[in-house]
Amino acid sequence: MISPAVRLTVCRDCCCGNATKHPGVDHDAQLARLREIAGASGAAVTVSDCLDVCEHANVVVVHRRGERPAWFGFVKGDGVLDDLHEWIKNGGPVPDTLELHRISPPARS
Ligand code: FES
Repeated sequence: MISPAVRLTVCRDCCCGNATKHPGVDHDAQLARLREIAGASGAAVTVSDCLDVCEHANVVVVHRRGERPAWFGFVKGDGVLDDLHEWIKNGGPVPDTLELHRISPPARS
């Protein structure tokens, strides 16, 4: 089996995807949209337990073959999903508006 060139890790646990902590976001619709985005680009989606950066919820990590994973936080509105879609589809550098959502991965001990 050939692994996809792009994989998305979508955090859904104690903070990401939590309607009590983040009301006003349709988390199920967001995950469905991320699956659509991935599917249209041949990417795979994995739903993850807490990625240890809860202060940045909702968190999505984009793994592009041959590159370091790109971590994005505060993924809540349609605009950031649009930006993710365009970047995954077209490649190239991270668009400036998406760059605003970039976060650092948690420090490893
Ligand atoms: S629940 Fe997503 S980083 Fe903790």
